Amino acid sequence: MLALPTIRLATREDAHAIAALSRDYIEDGLVWRYTPIRVLAAIQSRTTNVAVVHVHGGLHGFGIMQYGDTTAHLVLLGVQPTQRHKGLGRHLVQWLEDSARVAGVARIDVECRADNPGAIAFYRTLGYRIQGVVSRYYAGRIDAIRLSKQLAQPIRRAAP
Ligand SMILES: CC(C)(COP(=O)(O)OP(=O)(O)OC[C@H]1O[C@@H](n2cnc3c(N)ncnc32)[C@H](O)[C@@H]1OP(=O)(O)O)[C@@H](O)C(=O)NCCC(=O)NCCS
Repeated sequence: MLALPTIRLATREDAHAIAALSRDYIEDGLVWRYTPIRVLAAIQSRTTNVAVVHVHGGLHGFGIMQYGDTTAHLVLLGVQPTQRHKGLGRHLVQWLEDSARVAGVARIDVECRADNPGAIAFYRTLGYRIQGVVSRYYAGRIDAIRLSKQLAQPIRRAAP
């Protein structure tokens, strides 16, 4: 099996490519909300992690997670169509989950478009459970499916 590429936190230079991926493959058919300015704000926020996978200088995927005190919200996740089904989406979510665990987060919430069965199946494979439907969540007309996952906390080692 091929090694998965390294994940790192995004820098301001990543904002345009992330926003374009969101516009074309996540927000398609909706008003573009995750513009480069908004993505840059997320990159600079102290309560948000923007994780990216780059290969040969090109953005292959990204994930944005916002942290509260005990819960986190997986805001956006996208993998380039040519790079899907290679484990990158799982790799990104696990990286963000690991960061959330370290931050003491107990639960992660995420919403998916109800017209996106592939993404719903993806999150269920990763252990997310459907909580219900949020009516007209996207642009006041497209329903969302809300899912969540309880995180096991990291084992804390006793001080020597
Ligand atoms: C959803 C998305 C992020 C998945 O990324 P990916 O890199 O292809 O996912 P992975 O290869 O890590 O898949 C992990 C597992 O999820 C499941 N899965 C992934 N895509 C799936 C699909 N379209 N249908 C059913 N199951 C799927 C599979 O079980 C897969 O495991 P397997 O490859 O061992 O069978 C990607 O399809 C995407 O970017 N979609 C468009 C944007 C989007 O819908 N984002 C999520 C809402 S914000």
